[in-house]
Amino acid sequence: MPQSNGQFRILKNLLPKHKRKTPPQLQDEIPFGRTQTDHMLICDYNPQKGGWQTPEIVPYSPFEVTPDAVVFHYGQEVFEGLKAYRKSASDEIFLFRPEQNARRFVNSALRLGMQPVPEDLFLRCVQEIVAVEQDWILPSPASLYIRPTLIGLDTGVSYRASLSYRFFIIVSPAKNYYSRETGISVYIEREHVRAVPGGCGEAKCGGNYAAALPALQRARAAGSEQVLWLDGINRTFVEEVGAMNIMFVYDNVIRTPALTGSILPGVTRSSIIQLARDLRYTVEECRLNISDVLNDIQSGKLTEIFGCGTAAVISPVIELVDGSQRHEVNGAQIGKVSMHLKKSLIDLQFGRGADPHGWRLQVSAQ
Ligand SMILES: Cc1ncc(COP(=O)(O)O)c(C=O)c1O
Repeated sequence: MPQSNGQFRILKNLLPKHKRKTPPQLQDEIPFGRTQTDHMLICDYNPQKGGWQTPEIVPYSPFEVTPDAVVFHYGQEVFEGLKAYRKSASDEIFLFRPEQNARRFVNSALRLGMQPVPEDLFLRCVQEIVAVEQDWILPSPASLYIRPTLIGLDTGVSYRASLSYRFFIIVSPAKNYYSRETGISVYIEREHVRAVPGGCGEAKCGGNYAAALPALQRARAAGSEQVLWLDGINRTFVEEVGAMNIMFVYDNVIRTPALTGSILPGVTRSSIIQLARDLRYTVEECRLNISDVLNDIQSGKLTEIFGCGTAAVISPVIELVDGSQRHEVNGAQIGKVSMHLKKSLIDLQFGRGADPHGWRLQVSAQ
């Protein structure tokens, strides 16, 4: 482990200021995840050289991976997604519960038989690349999206777990994930399933997202933005919506699918559950039958639905599409509870107001 005096050493080979790109302005269009910043962090794991090597922050550029690397053939790839937030017009920069991402990254790696990145190494690397790229962090409603990734590097197409790995982090400026703030249409997927108990739905691995693409194409063809996944055994119980967890509002009661092993345990999900309870909503983690959901929309008992995740924060669902049937939720209006929770969460993330649960981690300037 590259430690000295209890501190990780991180090498920096930074571009001179005059060679750096100009970050976008808040009023610019910033398509999600498309603009990479000037630098990235790379840290390799090499058992022949004693394990984790010294992390390096280097100019953003392609790197070489041989065509026979394990990542290309047997899918040893896991990733994370978190954000850095700037308190308006100040130099205060925060991460939000990054230790949760560090832990999930370990769990994802273990599920795919990979060498996990130690949580303290992950946290230090995330803080360091954010500090280097802080000029790219625009204030609310923008942020810096952070994408830590781990890939298996061993060469040769024989089937086995890689012994050597590359951990890298790229970051990109982000604004709202969906172009419209008016709520999303969601397509109920009845053909494919995303995950099964005992599978890798709990892991954040690229393979899950590849296998979800045909359903996303069907959703788009039906005029929806996202896919609603049902459970893999009964094909009855609601699991997730695209790359978000899902919540159903029954007036003062919020119901969300319990984590059964095939659902990604979202950091936003767990934060909203806590925040909602703090705000005196009742939150139930339970099984939600899709037929009941549709009936409750019809009867008006179900007042709001929203997806939640790091990228989009809270996305109100204004329509469920089931084959040829379209079910409007809440008269296709964005609901009050969704917006109340969104504001509470965003205030916390951007450093406004108290932080009773100690979720913010301030990143020190360079
Ligand atoms: C499948 C899936 N579910 C849920 C989430 C939400 O997780 P988080 O709140 O940690 O971003 C994500 C996003 O990472 C996801 O990809």
